[in-house]
Amino acid sequence: MKRTLVAALCIFLAPLAYAADLTGHWMAKFEADGTVRETSLFLKADGNLLTGYMSSNQGDEAIQDGKITGNTFSFVIVRDRFGEERKSEFTGKVTDQGITLEFPHPSNRPGRHILLKRISTEAPGPMPAPPTKISLPAAAPVPYNGLAKTPPMGWNSWNKFANKVTDALIRQTADAMVRNGMKDAGYIYVNIDDTWQGSRDAQGNIQANSKFPDMKALADYVHSKGLKLGIYSSPGPKTCAGYEGSFQHEQQDAKTYAAWGIDYLKYDWCSASQVYDYHSMPAVYAKMGAALAATGRPIVYSLCQYGVLKVEQWGTSVDGNLWRTTGDISDNWKSMSHIGFDLQLNLSAYSGPGHWNDPDMLEVGNGGMTNTEYRTHMSLWSLLAAPLLAGNDLRSVPPDIMHILANKEVIAVDQDPLGKQAKRIAKEGDTEVWARPLQGGAYAVGLFNRGASSAKVTARWSDVGFTGKGTVRDLWAAADRGSVSDQFSAPVLSHGVVLIRVEPQK
Ligand code: GLA
Repeated sequence: MKRTLVAALCIFLAPLAYAADLTGHWMAKFEADGTVRETSLFLKADGNLLTGYMSSNQGDEAIQDGKITGNTFSFVIVRDRFGEERKSEFTGKVTDQGITLEFPHPSNRPGRHILLKRISTEAPGPMPAPPTKISLPAAAPVPYNGLAKTPPMGWNSWNKFANKVTDALIRQTADAMVRNGMKDAGYIYVNIDDTWQGSRDAQGNIQANSKFPDMKALADYVHSKGLKLGIYSSPGPKTCAGYEGSFQHEQQDAKTYAAWGIDYLKYDWCSASQVYDYHSMPAVYAKMGAALAATGRPIVYSLCQYGVLKVEQWGTSVDGNLWRTTGDISDNWKSMSHIGFDLQLNLSAYSGPGHWNDPDMLEVGNGGMTNTEYRTHMSLWSLLAAPLLAGNDLRSVPPDIMHILANKEVIAVDQDPLGKQAKRIAKEGDTEVWARPLQGGAYAVGLFNRGASSAKVTARWSDVGFTGKGTVRDLWAAADRGSVSDQFSAPVLSHGVVLIRVEPQK
């Protein structure tokens, strides 16, 4: 009897289901490091239906499939990511202070939410028309700057510190690299990633924000330690974190970097899709490549555009010394192994002295993987002739992590002057063998096990590229394994590696 009554009530009340009236302009304003960033929602509620648009450092984007259920709401934004449609679902709820908006996030990263406050209750007008995108004509090739004969090595602030990078952190990191052996192991570049930028002065010169009181003095300090300083920008109006980009200030910014004493630029596409037809990407990157060359200062040029548009085929022509081949790495096995094993196949022909494929920065020591997995990370990156940019807190590195990052025999594989990136030469179930030739006739060979339990892995010399006997050294064990005919087998831990150097016997 009771149940029937409840059911009847539900049917009766359903059409009257409450939906918060979200009509109006809602805004979140972030003021940090002397930079102001805004995200606005211009919403119109019609019962349960929600329409309008979002305005952020991604530009103006129409809301689709908007729904309000009681005090919660959801909508979808469809983005064009280099010709592919990507749907992102946002959710939110009404709170005492305004509305909170949850951003969609990759499965293995913590979520991000912001609080927006109501600025007005007026229904929004139509979304402003997007700016016409600029198409640049193909650019002349930029001559090679002569740098990065071996993959660049150093440190970058992003993976561990993100927006917490400061002048003090850079100085402390430089001090630590000298003290703890990282510099001796070959790590030279100390790279400031996103969030250093302030506004432009009246002449349009970019200024650092309050976290970096004197960039020139910082560069002098880093140089005094025998290290080099790197910086970060975007060809778009804004960087990925919403700070000032280099759009329409390319030459001016290159000159500023040179005047400060910068030795390395990571140039991250980010908001450039809002202003450029993305097919112009090679010309956009050539613009900064030429601007850096015009300064006369040797500045390593790192392209960060997530590997789209087959960058490996044109990165060299814009004088990129390295180019990212994938989206961002995260500090977990799934992300690292997918990037390192699956997304680097068929790229080795494009890499070589001066111009490297970049599978993204290291996560070694950040805590999300086991040491076995970090050894796999380091081995794979070394076989791939990848840039080695440590991404952990170098001010306090435990000995086990230092042993992984600063292992000279492993680093020698990465830095081999022949500059030949490894290829996968065998795959059986969850095990893979990768190999690269080294200068002088030896080979580096990685026996990997991506499976959930230990497995025996075999590397056949005929797959590696020679026959007969080879003298084997196990690099992580720092132990000679003698002369071995035809093949080398080893038990390999789950998610682990045995990395060897093998010298064919004449
Ligand atoms: C992008 C890059 C990252 C990092 C962030 C900074 O996501 O791929 O490596 O530079 O931007 O905002």
